[in-house]
Amino acid sequence: TTNWIDAAALDEMPQDDVISLDVAGRDIALYGVDGEVFATDNVCTHGHARLCDGFLEGYEIECPLHQGKFDVRSGQPTCAPVTEALRSYPVKIEGGRVWLAVD
Ligand code: FES
Repeated sequence: TTNWIDAAALDEMPQDDVISLDVAGRDIALYGVDGEVFATDNVCTHGHARLCDGFLEGYEIECPLHQGKFDVRSGQPTCAPVTEALRSYPVKIEGGRVWLAVD
């Protein structure tokens, strides 16, 4: 069974922006895109940078350090120099809360 963790209130979610959150001891980036919420690990797979300090455009997050990009829906890299996917986490919205499955 999926272990859903209550991560945040839906009305705290950014609109077309990214925030960081500690969820069950993990550094998670939460993205609000067009009324939907997506979650990935917050630390870039290329180096020591936090994606919450980057720039979100549409479904793409740009890393602040070397401008690599990932698709926030899947964690897949979309622009060099990143080559390794970010871990992404299932999200559900229920009862005005944002829930993440982290394991
Ligand atoms: Fe993110 Fe280099 S640390 S692209």
